[in-house]
Amino acid sequence: MKKLQGAGLRGQSAGQTSLSTVEQEGSLRYLGYSIEDLAKHASFEEVAYLLLLGELPNKKNLEEFERELAGLRNMPESLVTVVESIPADAHPMEVVRTIISYMGVIESEKSFDEQLQVTKRLLGVTTTAIVYWYKYSHEGVRINQETGEKSVAAHFLKLLRQEDIEELHKKTLDVSLTLYAEHEFNASTFTGRVCASTLSDLHSCLTAAVGSLRGPLHGGANEEAMKMLEEIQSVDQVKEFVDQKLENKEKIMGFGHAVYSVKDPRSDIIKDFSAELSKDHKDKLLHDAAVIMEAHLKEKKGLFPNTDFFHAPAYHYLGIPTKLFTPLFAIARIIGWSAHAYEQRSNNRIIRPSADYIGPEDRSWVDIESR
Ligand SMILES: CC(C)(COP(=O)(O)OP(=O)(O)OC[C@H]1O[C@@H](n2cnc3c(N)ncnc32)[C@H](O)[C@@H]1OP(=O)(O)O)[C@@H](O)C(=O)NCCC(=O)NCCS
Repeated sequence: MKKLQGAGLRGQSAGQTSLSTVEQEGSLRYLGYSIEDLAKHASFEEVAYLLLLGELPNKKNLEEFERELAGLRNMPESLVTVVESIPADAHPMEVVRTIISYMGVIESEKSFDEQLQVTKRLLGVTTTAIVYWYKYSHEGVRINQETGEKSVAAHFLKLLRQEDIEELHKKTLDVSLTLYAEHEFNASTFTGRVCASTLSDLHSCLTAAVGSLRGPLHGGANEEAMKMLEEIQSVDQVKEFVDQKLENKEKIMGFGHAVYSVKDPRSDIIKDFSAELSKDHKDKLLHDAAVIMEAHLKEKKGLFPNTDFFHAPAYHYLGIPTKLFTPLFAIARIIGWSAHAYEQRSNNRIIRPSADYIGPEDRSWVDIESR
């Protein structure tokens, strides 16, 4: 089928932002700071503060922010009831969508002055609630919601694994959340901004954004990449496996990007963590196969991995079930979505583009009996 002209609005500016720059040749900056610097030096909480408040925090600001976030993690009783009623076979992004939407019912945003508080609350409670749902529906366990961990990453892992978490694991997830936190006018953020432009409440903006992130062409790609890597039995199979997919005109999940044309700067960062975690892991093959797949697709099709691809083995090595991969992306992106909603609200005009009509010419009305 012929591609529609201007399909996907590729390359067209749909507005302004001061939050991040995504450049075709492979550069990503949040408010001017490179993703490489942020991943190396900042914690996810520092990055969240930067995106939500516009500047990096000083030590005191950060400690206060972390303390506040940690105090907002527990689920209200009625949310526990809701989450316990969601079956194990629900799509995990439906669960995230429900959590955020339900929080909008019981702790609604009464005025835009509350927006920062809403974001902090949603970051904390969604993290707890998604793990709570997973453990309850899959293992029949009602987890203790308190972990005593300071960071979102460590809290998530400890809730999930119910054990002390080693530093490399905490660091990997922390960096991953930074990588996923913000990405300009991607599909889910744009969805959220359109909703924000109607002056709707923040819970609605984020619920809408989650709906867009759910799709396999967006957030769902990390899960799909994992399922694909799990099909591979040995490194010798990789090239043939990829060639077969290409021959069948199948999309290789975790490869390609709508804006980047040579590389996704986030990929090498998470790839390094995946490599480190793969050492001595019984499923080392996942990372090794991924590395071969990367080289082969580059050579054959000029395709490069996006951030989702090496997230798949990395998350697996952290003991995260595949089902929770996309919800983690959503948890991190609560920050970017919120920051964009604030930005939209601060200088708003309803987003209402026009369309080029390609339907039939003007026609005369035909009565129903004569059709
Ligand atoms: C991300 C994505 C939706 C971008 O789509 P897009 O902007 O339409 O892609 P492009 O226009 O750059 O595609 C150029 C060509 O490469 C092909 N291509 C792009 N990504 C591909 C992939 N992952 N596997 C196989 N071929 C791919 C396209 O089919 C297209 O071929 P064509 O010109 O013969 O039709 C697309 O690359 C994709 O579906 N990737 C897999 C899903 C994924 O990983 N999503 C997460 C994104 S962060």
